Amino acid sequence: MADTPSTKFQRNDAGLLIAVEGIDGTGKSTQCAMLAEWFEAGGREARVLPEPTRGPYGMELRRRAREGRLDPRAEFELFLEDRAWNVETNIMPVLDRGGVVILDRYYISSMAYQGARGLDPMEIQVANERIAPRPDIVFLLMLSVDEALDRIHGRDEHGPNLYEDRAYQENVAAIFDSLNWIEIERIDAAQPVDEMQKEMRVAVWKRKTSVT
Ligand code: TYD
Repeated sequence: MADTPSTKFQRNDAGLLIAVEGIDGTGKSTQCAMLAEWFEAGGREARVLPEPTRGPYGMELRRRAREGRLDPRAEFELFLEDRAWNVETNIMPVLDRGGVVILDRYYISSMAYQGARGLDPMEIQVANERIAPRPDIVFLLMLSVDEALDRIHGRDEHGPNLYEDRAYQENVAAIFDSLNWIEIERIDAAQPVDEMQKEMRVAVWKRKTSVT
């Protein structure tokens, strides 16, 4: 998918913004925590922030996920509100202080997950880049849908929900696969956890990002 950067959102040069993305089951949260530990060991403030958040819009999203999903556009708009809240309340204060923000999902997830429900991923990107800073590095954790579903559901479960889930996850994965941003580093998530982390740290280092 062609990338047309349309960043309207202004930020200063302080801080480092990393997003960790991928389908469910790729081990994002573990890798985020390990990255934060590494930055902190180097004396740098680092904060892991998950999306959906634990703020007011994020809690509403979580409730909706349990009690009946919103239609795709309403869901997209609620994710956008949650993100705007996260940018203002959590992300920008850390970046402005020169800290590292590690997002456990960010707007690339909106492009993939709401895109897989029929919305235009490019429209989702443009709307998000009006309210949210573009990440400096995006780690895209890569795993086949089969392997990811096995990890989530266990290897013996093959009920009808799994098939439904599989079709959706395949659409999500196809959108992630189609992205060709220069900020994206693809990491093989079938590797052991420590190997993945090593690749991610090398990638941060190679991008000449100061890790003091
Ligand atoms: P997830 O990272 O699994 O959160 P948790 O582990 O706390 O439940 O995210 C929950 C779901 O939200 C996941 O299936 C992806 C989806 N999602 C979107 O559909 N759009 C978005 O913009 C984001 C951030 C997440």
